[in-house]
Amino acid sequence: MKSQSDQRIIDRILALKKEKSVYIIAHYYQVPDIQDIADFVGDSYAMAVAAKNSPLETILVAGVDFMAESAAILCPGKTVLTPEPGATCPMANAIRVEDIEAYKEQHPDALIVSYVNTPAAIKAVSDVCVTSSNAVKIISKLPKDVPIFFIPDENLGRYVQGQLDRKMDFFPSSCPIHAALTPETIALRKLEHPGAEVMVHPECRPEVIQMADYVGSTAGIISHACKCPQQELIIATECGIMHKIEELNPDKKLILADPELVCADMKKITPEKILYSLEHMETKVTVPEDIRVKAAVALEKMIELAS
Ligand code: 13P
Ligand code: SF4
Repeated sequence: MKSQSDQRIIDRILALKKEKSVYIIAHYYQVPDIQDIADFVGDSYAMAVAAKNSPLETILVAGVDFMAESAAILCPGKTVLTPEPGATCPMANAIRVEDIEAYKEQHPDALIVSYVNTPAAIKAVSDVCVTSSNAVKIISKLPKDVPIFFIPDENLGRYVQGQLDRKMDFFPSSCPIHAALTPETIALRKLEHPGAEVMVHPECRPEVIQMADYVGSTAGIISHACKCPQQELIIATECGIMHKIEELNPDKKLILADPELVCADMKKITPEKILYSLEHMETKVTVPEDIRVKAAVALEKMIELAS
């Protein structure tokens, strides 16, 4: 049950987004109230496509900065708003353009495959972007005889490499939330819930991924949770995903692998900040045009190869 003031904020957001024609796109790691007021909720790939196909001229992205930037890169004529410019992804910020230039000096014919969790400047020097929902498919379509530098998530990169059995080079970085989940914790959950289906995000460590019955993006995990016959599900990704899984599977027993799986940056976005953003039409996300044009090539290539 929401407090009266919480409900007032939600009602005001709903009224303002209608009045100002704003399309709200949210990620599954947002708090339930934000997912519920959004026009579209998805994984990072679906969010980018939803932005590109937005029926409205103004888009508010409830997600970390690279998600809002992707929307701005793909929709040059539209206004993209973020309710909290300080919500970022530490893994995305770990790599610098110089790291890519140094690799290219050693491997001039290499392809730079960039996880969508990267700033625009990194996408601008990448050949193609991927997300956890399409990385295996996209990399399987790339020429076999060229080196691939997969950045910046080593865990996702190693998972893809294992699926495709092809040589790739990695940048040593990972998501601090997913990387903190240990195989011991999964083993304990399995002991507590024998027979439960274990579903893991590919940003987790290889030892954790090895213990999974299913590996996929947030959207993949939600869809698998609905389809699989098991009644008990252990879910190894950020806690925000539980909202949609619970809503769609009211009769299943759902266990978050570890209550510590909370992305503090995703949680910097609040209904109050969304309300402020809609009231003041702030903060507008901008990407310098020379960088936007180059970054759009890598994102559009992803959309082409994923479909
Ligand atoms: P998804 O693309 O699976 O939603 O993942 C985004 C993300 O940041 C996971 O940590
Ligand atoms: Fe970045 Fe990890 Fe948060 Fe996703 S969950 S936004 S990868 S820190």
